[in-house]
Amino acid sequence: MRRLDQLLANLGYCSRREARDWVRAGRVAVGGRTADDVGDRVEPAQVRIDGEAPDHAHGLLLLLHKPVGLVCSHDEREGPNVYSLLPERWRRRNPPVTSIGRLDKETSGLLLLTDLAPLVHRLTSPKHKVPKVYRAIVDRDLSPDLVPLFASGTLQLAGEAGPCASSELHLVGPREALLTLTEGRYHQVRRMFAAAGATVVTLHRERFGSLDLQGLAAGQWRELPPDFFGAT
Ligand code: URA
Repeated sequence: MRRLDQLLANLGYCSRREARDWVRAGRVAVGGRTADDVGDRVEPAQVRIDGEAPDHAHGLLLLLHKPVGLVCSHDEREGPNVYSLLPERWRRRNPPVTSIGRLDKETSGLLLLTDLAPLVHRLTSPKHKVPKVYRAIVDRDLSPDLVPLFASGTLQLAGEAGPCASSELHLVGPREALLTLTEGRYHQVRRMFAAAGATVVTLHRERFGSLDLQGLAAGQWRELPPDFFGAT
């Protein structure tokens, strides 16, 4: 149960102050009757806003094909962000829609977005070893020696307390590789290749666990059920 004005504000319809006007204007119904008190405690299922059920009252979980050039930060000073791709109302939700982990501005690919904070914590926790598959194109030919090196669990990146966990490298061309990681350190893929003397030229995340980008062009997203990863 939540206050009616809180529900409208949480779901991005309007501010709590504006909710008063929405109710006065007769735009909100509770239990089939026009609402008259923004302080009423309601279940979302009882509520209609302009005749419609509340928008994703139990949380949003989105699979986005992130294009190159957008950041995952909400800080406007860091430049255009992935949230600008979403409908206006979703951008006003509180808790805010945020990314589950981050991809660099110059990385494209599969990015999960949600307003379910416990899910963000769960999936980004080091304990949760979901495999993530990256396709990297680098600036020089890759040595097959990198396969056992990346798998060894001994690769030490500068400034990190411990070595990278074992990862699976598959060379698909002289300068192209698929890398499966189960952790998510800062700029990890770029830094792993840099430690091996190569610069990543393009980087794309193809998979996150069982999920892929099938059918989604860059900039497009699709919804997943909020309980896709189990109850939050
Ligand atoms: N590793 C990187 O270096 N960049 C990303 O965006 C993701 C993983």
